[in-house]
Amino acid sequence: MTAPRTIGIGILGLGTVGQGVWKHLTEKKADLEARLGVRIDLRGASVRNLRKRRAVRIPSSRLTSDPHAIVDDPKVHVVCELIGGTTRARELTLRALRLGKVVVSANKALLCEHGPEIFRAVRRHGGQFLFEASVAGGIPIIKAIREGLVANRFELIVGILNGTCNHILTRMGEDGLSFADALKEAQELGFAEADPTLDVDGIDAWHKASILAWLAHGKWAPRNRTLVEGIRKIGPADIDFARRFGFALKHLAVVRRDFRQNWMTVGVYPALVPNRDILARVSGVNNGITLKGDVVGATTLAGRGAGGDATASAVIGDIVDAIAALTGAAPQGLSAEALAAREKSGRALRMADEEEIVAPFYLRLSLLDQAGVSEGVYRVFSRHKVSIARVIQYEHPNQGRGTVTLSTYPVNERRMAAVVRGLKGLRTVLEEPVVLRIFSPES
Ligand code: HSE
Repeated sequence: MTAPRTIGIGILGLGTVGQGVWKHLTEKKADLEARLGVRIDLRGASVRNLRKRRAVRIPSSRLTSDPHAIVDDPKVHVVCELIGGTTRARELTLRALRLGKVVVSANKALLCEHGPEIFRAVRRHGGQFLFEASVAGGIPIIKAIREGLVANRFELIVGILNGTCNHILTRMGEDGLSFADALKEAQELGFAEADPTLDVDGIDAWHKASILAWLAHGKWAPRNRTLVEGIRKIGPADIDFARRFGFALKHLAVVRRDFRQNWMTVGVYPALVPNRDILARVSGVNNGITLKGDVVGATTLAGRGAGGDATASAVIGDIVDAIAALTGAAPQGLSAEALAAREKSGRALRMADEEEIVAPFYLRLSLLDQAGVSEGVYRVFSRHKVSIARVIQYEHPNQGRGTVTLSTYPVNERRMAAVVRGLKGLRTVLEEPVVLRIFSPES
């Protein structure tokens, strides 16, 4: 019998995820070695600060402040890039790929902004870039699309992809916490990005949605053709409307594909989700993703979408795939042929026009408290042929203003934008209207 091969693993960055990977890979090493029939050599990790105290104990001989020492080490076959950002991470990722290594990454911003360059390097040098941990923490969504659901074309992928936003909306909706307190809690629990504006302004979810759209449809959605909204504008009246009429407020990422017209849309925004939808019940830090495939129907995956341990689980899954591929146990990842086929189908695909994107809407208006004001508001809706479904009016005695929340029947984005412009032009509309989409799988 031939002696088992040794596969070297190097880690760049020992933040929450890096420490999780070190800890769980060390604990599971013997078990994984037995399954894979190889030796796993966790060779070391690069860190910015060698002296920093960390929750996970790592011998100092395994730490270096020079990431090149990890990337260039000929005994490292798999480089885990867990430092984040798009500058240093890009340089180190490309360097490892040019050496023909496997890079395992949790870096959604890097993939989203430099995906074509990364996959060019993969194709040219024969390495691999694996990114399960970049979307939805511990949920194996990339593997599901790439492997388990490979028989399907997806007309809809809708998900709660940011654990921090979901935690905040859950705590505001169920426990009455303020936005600021709920965000602070998410930061303390270690879910939030180093810069939490990436979470609450929707950028993190947009990165993840773009990756899913690319994986499913072969096209990187341009930022200027993607609706990206965060959750800062959500207030108590919105939560009240949702509760009264059987919705949960969720921050959604929605990727729709029309195969007949050959368009796709990618949008990231807070939305009212009917309580009967399974995603309405995905709460706290959890993520959930429903994929509507032409063969399988609707399938939903849910689980912890953020945090060191959940994300480490996805990184280790990729490491094991990499080892299997390196030792010839099984073909893994995206082969050069699969990448080329994906790009070919993506070239013909267009982004949907605003008239083609339809949803029922919810609006919150702050109105001057005077006779006849509602009539002016309704006139704007009727001028643009937008039909109102429900209305609630709240009075604020002695403040000279009132709050009106309402929902519409389905309408396209262009017409709704015209309504909002019309409302903003009214003297009686005192603040920027809050506009949310009501999610429905059909529209
Ligand atoms: N900050 C992200 C979230 C976790 O809250 O979902 C990493 O993607």
